[in-house]
Amino acid sequence: MSELLKMLGCRYPIIQGPIGMFNSPTMVAAVSEAGAYGMLALGFSNPDEVKKLVDEVRQLTDKPFGANIMLINPHNEKILETLAGAGVKAVTTSVGSPKEIYPIIHDLGMKGIHVVLALQHAIRAVTAGADALVVVGSEAGGLRSVNSESSTMVLVPLVADHVKIPLVAAGGISDSRGYKAVFALGAQGVQVGTRLLASNESPAGERWKKAIVECNDGGTDLILSSNMRTAERIIVTPWIKQKMADPAVKNIADELDRNPAATGNYERAAFGAGQVSALIKDIKPIKAIIEEMVS
Ligand SMILES: Cc1cc2nc3c(=O)[nH]c(=O)nc-3n(C[C@H](O)[C@H](O)[C@H](O)COP(=O)(O)O)c2cc1C
Repeated sequence: MSELLKMLGCRYPIIQGPIGMFNSPTMVAAVSEAGAYGMLALGFSNPDEVKKLVDEVRQLTDKPFGANIMLINPHNEKILETLAGAGVKAVTTSVGSPKEIYPIIHDLGMKGIHVVLALQHAIRAVTAGADALVVVGSEAGGLRSVNSESSTMVLVPLVADHVKIPLVAAGGISDSRGYKAVFALGAQGVQVGTRLLASNESPAGERWKKAIVECNDGGTDLILSSNMRTAERIIVTPWIKQKMADPAVKNIADELDRNPAATGNYERAAFGAGQVSALIKDIKPIKAIIEEMVS
C-alpha cells in the first residue's frame, strides 16, 4: 500500500477536488462510498458550519473523508479540532503560508497535504512539515496565481525530482488514461475537480454541468480577479471571448455574472472549470466515474 493510501485510509488514491462555493455532504459521501476520498471545502467556513457539515457526512457514510482548509481563514484551529474529533485523518491546506498550521495538524494526530502550484511552493511546504503535496498544473480549474505556470505533465515530475514526500497530481485528470499517467510522472494519486463537478451528485447547476460537457478544446481561459492578484480558469462563452479581446474592457472579472441562475444572464456566466472539460462528454454518477478511472 502506498504512503498516500495509508494517510487517506480509503481504497483508491483519488481525492475529491474541493470546490470553494460548494459543500455538499451528499457529494462527499458519494465519493467516499465509491472508494475515493471525499472532501469538504472549508475555505470560508466557521466552526459551527463545520460541525454541522461533518455530522451530515457522518450520517451518510462511515468511510474516510477529509477537508480542505484555506490558510487565510482565521477559524482554522477550531475547525481542525472539530475534524480531528470526527475522525478525519488527513486534510489538505491551500491559499496561504503553511508555516504555522502544520504543528497544529500534527498535534491533533492528523496528516496534512499542502496544495502547490509551483516548485518553490513545494520546497517551502516540505520545510513547513507537509506530509504530502497536491501538485496542481496550470490546466486545472480553480484559482491560479498570476505567474507563468507549468502544466501537470511538467510540474509533477519536476516536483518529484526535488521532494521525497508523496505527491498527488491535479489538473487535467478525468478518466483512466489521466489516472494511469500520473503514476508514471511520480505521483501516488490524483485530485479530481472538474470531472466530479459534472457528476449527478454535484450541486453545480444543470447549466454549469452542461457548459462543461459542451466545452471544446480551448474552451477555457484564465481571467484575472477584480483585485488583479489571482487568476481563475473559467469556460469562455462567445460573449466573454469577445469582451476579453476588447481593449475598452479593463477587467473582464468585473463584467461576469456570479449568479446567472438568478439573472438568466448565461452569456456572462463565470463557470469555473479546467481544460479537461474538453474530454468530458457526459454527466454520470460518481461511482461510475471512479470505477472507470481505476479500471
Ligand atoms: C470552480 C472551482 C472551484 C475550486 N475551488 C477550490 C477550493 O476552494 N480549494 C481548493 O483547494 N481547490 C479548489 N479548486 C481546485 C480543485 O480542487 C482541483 O484541484 C482542480 O479542479 C483540479 O483540476 P481539474 O479541474 O482539471 O480536475 C476549484 C476548482 C474549480 C473548478
